[in-house]
Amino acid sequence: MQTDFLVIGSGIAGLTFALKMSEAHPDKKIMVITKAASDETNTKYAQGGVAGVWDEANDSFEKHIEDTLIAGDGLCNREIVEIVVKEGPERIRELIGYGAEFDKTENGEYALGREGGHSEHRILHHKDVTGREMERAMLAKVQAAGNIEMVNHCYVVDLITQHHLGFLVTKATHDITCYGVYVLNLRTNKIDKILARITLLATGGCGQAYRTTTNPRIATGDGVGMVYRAKGRIENMEFIQFHPTALYKPGESPSFLITEAVRGDGGILRNKKGEAFMERYDHRKDLAPRDIVARAIDSEMKLAGTEHVYLDCRHMDKDKFIHHFPNIYEKCLSIGIDPMEQMIPVAPAAHYSCGGIKTDEWGRTSIQHLYACGECASTGLHGANRLASNSLLEAMVFGHRCFADSAARIDGIPFQTGIPDWNAKGTTDPKEMILITQSLKELQQLMSDYVGIVRNDVRLQRAMKRLDLLHTETEELYETTKVSPQLCELRNLITIGYLIVKAAQFRRESRGLHFNTDHPAKSDQLQNIVL
Ligand code: FAD
Ligand code: SIN
Repeated sequence: MQTDFLVIGSGIAGLTFALKMSEAHPDKKIMVITKAASDETNTKYAQGGVAGVWDEANDSFEKHIEDTLIAGDGLCNREIVEIVVKEGPERIRELIGYGAEFDKTENGEYALGREGGHSEHRILHHKDVTGREMERAMLAKVQAAGNIEMVNHCYVVDLITQHHLGFLVTKATHDITCYGVYVLNLRTNKIDKILARITLLATGGCGQAYRTTTNPRIATGDGVGMVYRAKGRIENMEFIQFHPTALYKPGESPSFLITEAVRGDGGILRNKKGEAFMERYDHRKDLAPRDIVARAIDSEMKLAGTEHVYLDCRHMDKDKFIHHFPNIYEKCLSIGIDPMEQMIPVAPAAHYSCGGIKTDEWGRTSIQHLYACGECASTGLHGANRLASNSLLEAMVFGHRCFADSAARIDGIPFQTGIPDWNAKGTTDPKEMILITQSLKELQQLMSDYVGIVRNDVRLQRAMKRLDLLHTETEELYETTKVSPQLCELRNLITIGYLIVKAAQFRRESRGLHFNTDHPAKSDQLQNIVL
C-alpha cells in the first residue's frame, strides 16, 4: 500500500491536517489511520472548550499570550505562543465553517467561558461536550470530502526508516528519514507496510501511563514511543499535567472529568472540613493555573489523610448549571450525587502531556518527512504547564501548519523502494495475556506512586529501577511473541515512563508541573530537556 500523505490519528490534529490537504490538493492521496473507531480519541472527551481571542472589546492577543506565558512558568517559546494565539481564531472560524456549533448567549454572541489561568472569558464551548461536537463536525466533513481514506482498527507498530533497509541508525545520524509505517490490521491480524511520502503523527497523549487518568484507553503514547525507537528527539516529558478535578469514583477508569469551567462559573474547592482552601495557596484561588491547584489539592489530601476533596456547586444557579453542564449533572446523578444538594468528590488525575515529539514552528520533527502535531508534539507552546483549553487550539494551528509546509514540499519527495516485509520469524502466539496485563498494572501503579504531582530523588530512582525490570521483561516478550496492540502499547507506555523519569531526573529544579521536594527552587537557567 502507498499514499502521498499518511496521517496517524483521527483526533482534532490529524483531521485538521487531512481536511486542509483534501481541500487544497484533491489530486493527492490522503490516508488517515486509527487504532480504534474513528471518533475514539482524547478529542471526543474534551469538555471545557477551545480558547481564543473573540471578544475584542475586552480581550486581546497580548492578554492571551501573557496568560499562556505565565501558566508555562518561564519555559514557553514566545514565538510559538504568538503564532498559536494569533492564528487560533482563524482556525476556529474554519471549524465553525465545517459545521461545529458553539453555545451562544441570548444576544447571539458566543458565550465565552473562563478557566484557570485565563484573565478573560475566552473559551468557546458546546455545553460540557465540546470535543464531541468538534469531532462530529470534522468526521462529517471527512466523509463528505470523498478523497480521504479513513482506515480504522489498524494499529501502527513502528515507523519505517533506513534502519529497515539495513543501515545503522544512531542518535547522531543527521538524515534519519521516515518512509512510512508497519501497521497491524486488527481485523486480519496481519502486519502490512504502508509507504508514504509524508507521514504525520497525530497520536495524542499518554495518560494511560498512570493508574488514574482522564484519558481514554487509546492514550498510550504510541507516537512518542515510535519516534524514540527511531532515534528521533523527544522533549520535556517530565511535564505531565494532572487535572485538579476528576470525579472521585474508585475503580472507574478512565476517570470522569469535572471541567474547570465549573470553577470558572463559580464552583469552589473545599477540604474535608468544608474550608475553601485555595485562598491559602494562591491569590487567584480556584482559578489559579492547573499545576498550582493540583498541588494544593494534593497537599490538602495528604494533610487530612483523604483520597479526595470536594467541589462545591450548591450555591450555583440550578438552571444555569444544567444548561452549561448537562453531561456532568447527569453523571453525578447517576452515581447518587445531586450537585445542587451535595458536594462532588474530586481528586487530581493524569490529564495531558505538555512535552512530546520535538517539532519546529512548522511541525517538522527531527526525522525527515515526518511531522507531528496535537498532544503528541512538543511545539514550545505549553512550556512547563499548559494553560487550560489551549490544547485544542494548538492542535488546529499546527494541523494547519503541518499541512502548509508538507504540501509545499511533497513534490520533491519520492516513495522509497526496497522496504522489506515485516519479519515475524521466531515469534509465537502469546501464551498468557496476564504477563502483559499485570505489567501494565505495575507500570501504572509505580508511575502514580513515585512520579506523580510531587516527586523526589529517591522516588524517581526507585521508579527507574522498576522500569528497568519491566523493560527487560517486556522486550524479551516482544522478541519471542507475535505482535499484539496490548504488547505494543505496554512497550510504548514503558518508554513513556522511562522518558518522564529520565527527564525528571535531569531537571534539578521545580518548575510548573514538575515539583521535586529535593530541588524545590526554580533555577535561573531555562532549560528544555531533550532526550
Ligand atoms: P487524540 O484526539 O487523542 O487522537 C489520537 C488518535 O491517534 C486516535 O485516533 C487514535 O486512534 C490514534 N492513534 C494513537 N496511537 C495509534 C497507533 N499506534 N496506531 C493507529 N492510531 C493511533 N483540551 C482543550 O483544549 N480543551 C478542553 O476542554 C479539553 N478537555 C479535555 C477533557 C478530557 C477528558 C481529556 C482527556 C482531554 C481534554 N483536553 C482538552 C485535551 C485535548 O482533548 C487533547 O489534548 C486533544 O484532543 C488531543 O488531540 P489529538 O488530535 O492530538 O489526539
Ligand atoms: C477542562 O474542561 O477542564 C479541560 C480543559 C483542558 O484540558 O484544557
